[in-house]
Amino acid sequence: MWPVFVLSAFFFLCGAKATLVPSPYVDFLPGSLNVILSSPHGGHLKPSSIPNRDAGCYINGDCVYSHTCGTKDPNNCDVVTSNDLYTQELTRELYTSLCNEFNACPPTVINLLHRRKHDPNREKDEGTFGVPDVEQAWDYYHGLLQEIRQNQTDQALLLDIHGHGHPTVWVELGYLVSRTRLNLGYYSAHRTSVRNLYAHTTGVSSIQELLTGAAPISFGALLEAQGYQAVPSPTNHGPGSHSYFSGGYITKHYGSRYSGIVDAIQIESPKAYRKLPERTQYVAALTETIRNYTTRHYV
Ligand SMILES: *[C@@H]1O[C@H](CO)[C@@H](O)[C@H](O)[C@H]1NC(C)=O
Ligand SMILES: *[C@@H]1O[C@H](CO)[C@@H](O)[C@H](O)[C@H]1NC(C)=O
Ligand SMILES: [Zn+2]
Repeated sequence: MWPVFVLSAFFFLCGAKATLVPSPYVDFLPGSLNVILSSPHGGHLKPSSIPNRDAGCYINGDCVYSHTCGTKDPNNCDVVTSNDLYTQELTRELYTSLCNEFNACPPTVINLLHRRKHDPNREKDEGTFGVPDVEQAWDYYHGLLQEIRQNQTDQALLLDIHGHGHPTVWVELGYLVSRTRLNLGYYSAHRTSVRNLYAHTTGVSSIQELLTGAAPISFGALLEAQGYQAVPSPTNHGPGSHSYFSGGYITKHYGSRYSGIVDAIQIESPKAYRKLPERTQYVAALTETIRNYTTRHYV
């Protein structure tokens, strides 16, 4: 009896396919390409029925994120509520451009809510403040990314599309390697979001070469070959003393750091590249970069 019970319990837990409950606050653009796009910080909707994310309460040394937690403590439990301007537009234009380039589209998940209402690039409590409609949006956003990830039969690459407000006009590429480690060149592949890529690509002698090597090895080099500055890249191995985003919740959870055949890179573009008219050129450059990178490293 036991083996049968254990076996059926196993299939129940692992084989059962969760049905996704759609949310009006998340847009899904389908596709069969092994490039995946995610756009968490470019939503425009600010329904008045959803209270603003403000700050959590600081309780016994922990932040509790809800609107009923008591006294909000912005000193200890502040949250970021400003959007990455034009990143939804950038993602949609990149989707269309990739569809044309590859004759197959990248499955794409877009948060439609302003970051003041929903942040899918955070843990669920901090991202939603426990508001039911927003929790449903968070669940759908991540349910889609999970299903897209499980659907991949070959190596795939997820690009999480962001915009930084740093004064530096370069594209920050996040592989989960900190600024300090990039500056020192001191990091190993198994803690990056491209661990699976490094394990399977050929002719690349170190993880440092994969992140900062000459074209067509590193994503940064390919982007610079298109005329756009990037870090890490052959010209900028690390950000030096400048501010830099190394990758957040989505890059951590849907890249190959912990498991799987899907890699992830967080792409933080400067505002100058996200704005029209520059954005049109930039989308073409990203498309070419993605094509060269996947041709070199992905089957
Ligand atoms: C995953 O694959 C199944 C089967 O092809 C398909 O019906 C479903 O839409 C895919 N899911 C996503 C989110 O792309
Ligand atoms: C990108 O790929 C194209 C087509 O194969 C090639 O002509 C071009 O040199 C590549 N660019 C770089 C920087 O490797
Ligand atoms: Zn962002």
